[in-house]
Amino acid sequence: VAVAALLTGTGLTVAPGAAPAVPHDHGSPAARITDEPTRRFTLTAATATVDAGGRNVAAWAFNGQVPGPELTATVGDVLEVTLRNRDIGRGVTLHWHGYDVPNDQDGVPGVTQAAVRPGQEFVYRFRADQAGTYWYHTHSASDVGVRMGLYGVLVVRPGPVTGLDVTVPVHTLAGRPLPAPKVEEVEAGLPVRLRLINTDSTTHRYALAGTAFRVAAIDGVDLRGPTPLVDTAVLIPAGGRYDLVFDAPATPVALFVDGRAVYSTGPVSTATGAWRVLDPLRYGATAAVPWSRFDKTFTLVLDRGLDLRRLLPRYGHTVNGAADPDIPPQVVRLGDVVRFTIVNRSQVVHPWHLHGHHVLVLARDGEPATGSPLWLDSFDVRPGEVWEVAFRADNPGMWANHCHNLAHADAGMTLHLMYS
Ligand code: C2O
Ligand code: CU
Repeated sequence: VAVAALLTGTGLTVAPGAAPAVPHDHGSPAARITDEPTRRFTLTAATATVDAGGRNVAAWAFNGQVPGPELTATVGDVLEVTLRNRDIGRGVTLHWHGYDVPNDQDGVPGVTQAAVRPGQEFVYRFRADQAGTYWYHTHSASDVGVRMGLYGVLVVRPGPVTGLDVTVPVHTLAGRPLPAPKVEEVEAGLPVRLRLINTDSTTHRYALAGTAFRVAAIDGVDLRGPTPLVDTAVLIPAGGRYDLVFDAPATPVALFVDGRAVYSTGPVSTATGAWRVLDPLRYGATAAVPWSRFDKTFTLVLDRGLDLRRLLPRYGHTVNGAADPDIPPQVVRLGDVVRFTIVNRSQVVHPWHLHGHHVLVLARDGEPATGSPLWLDSFDVRPGEVWEVAFRADNPGMWANHCHNLAHADAGMTLHLMYS
């Protein structure tokens, strides 16, 4: 694919003045929060034995459970989360996946803090100023740490709930899918919000049968003008979240993940495997791109190859021909409007994840996005694809920017966005 041609030939519609609000505009550099916390939690990481679908398996757990406790807050709360590490030798941190916290709360060992060693603790504090579905996970030896169970749900609600509002994080522990939480029955006609989180390193396919539904939000950001869908599956990338909303029907509803019913209120006979798959770039009501120029443009070519910057060249996942820690950082200035072009030249999917910022999807394979503005923090760049995304550099610090197939990330597919 000719990257240079795509950079100049996207045909983006730009209409400054008619710009939609940037949902996660931090306004000014975030300061350390000094307000009294209104929601306090303690998460203790320790080795544990947990029940994975009827079999006891060794895990690393927060407060003895996988997933860890569900952290909930309402917009306006100040969260304080004390992380303790009892006996995880690889160290533990808390990263608030998709939550654009101040840099020193981001939980990346060696970048924003030191890993919390056994017997140590670290106190996180941040303001719940973005409603939506998020999750937290360790970022220390993140591949093994998350796989073993050091993760949980973070939900920030705009206000009191009417109807049913439930979160289903899909996770594979010791090769087995963890059971979905029990969902209470809900009276027909009441609104249901199903928050789906993929905490695995590979894409999952979700199909909701027995009802029409809308995708209300992706990666914690509400979509504009989502229309009802039927017989449609969604693909959620590693780390990604989709909020599905519908009114509870009087007849049974079932949620299938990769063809397996993880939750149902009764028998639903539907061959969901044949359903069409939603393309989020073509869903909802379009709006103009809020920026007419880009101060910085970067291209990331994802591939597999020899990292030639090493003294002893190593074969593995590479970005622009290099692997972490040899990939130069992308340097931006506060206020810059930044465009990233991400090209996958490899044979495998790379679910891309930028910390500290949501990015607006501009185009995929040279075709401008025509649906609702998509502000993502996790998106699958499939083999051969080219994604163009942009964001305003409004959250100073040093941020990880990596593949969320965490084995890839730990094997070198990690780089950093840096503010000069
Ligand atoms: Cu969900 Cu850097 O991670
Ligand atoms: Cu990858």
